[in-house]
Amino acid sequence: MNQKRITIAIDGFSACGKSTLAKDLAKRLGYVFIDSGAMYRAAALYCLNHQLIQDGKLDKVGIDSQLSQMDIHFETVVSESHIFLNGQDVSNEIREPKVAEIVSIVSAYKPIREKLVEAQQKMGVLGGIVMDGRDIGSVVFPHAELKLFVTADPEIRVQRRLAEMQSKRIEMSVEEVRQNLAERDHLDSTREESPLIQVADALVLDNSQLTKEEQLDWVLAKVNLLVTN
Ligand code: DC
Repeated sequence: MNQKRITIAIDGFSACGKSTLAKDLAKRLGYVFIDSGAMYRAAALYCLNHQLIQDGKLDKVGIDSQLSQMDIHFETVVSESHIFLNGQDVSNEIREPKVAEIVSIVSAYKPIREKLVEAQQKMGVLGGIVMDGRDIGSVVFPHAELKLFVTADPEIRVQRRLAEMQSKRIEMSVEEVRQNLAERDHLDSTREESPLIQVADALVLDNSQLTKEEQLDWVLAKVNLLVTN
């Protein structure tokens, strides 16, 4: 039987396990997985590399004039999705603290959001996609069949982000991670352009006490109801 290929929008604060869930779901369903945060991180790296942000201040005129030259896309490398910035694989570099420190400032700038949202919407035209971020259910795919808002206890999020950093051999102290997450939570949810919100039709998933497998099963049960009805 040909099952409907739906759009799944996953939103939530940083380090709630959204990307892990999105990746697992996409793999299980044979869908495309898009980590939209990686795209904002690549845009932030572009700004760093071109001196378009200094002391936390954006050079908006410079960004406006160079934005058309910023190419961000995904490619599959050894069955993993990698992100490329103007032809260079930046999948690891975008996780570095220098990017984490400024990404919320860069992602709050409207022209950058407009460019990336347009690219995200193009990737989703055919359905069969799982995308995670902050504005996926509210702005990118407001008509997504399934919207999830993922939350987790703040200290659990700190521990998860630390473990991620350690696995990538990036040095950050617990305090640095805690502070960076708190700052980004604040900026991401209070900015003027597409702030992180929990939309009314999103299902809330608190995964503080769930394993990866448990959260996947929980979501797959919801997906099954949608694709078989
Ligand atoms: O999910 P992440 O931590 O990798 O996201 C990095 C930053 O990008 C985050 O601080 C906010 C921003 N972001 C956004 O504004 N909109 C999205 N759809 C995804 C991420």
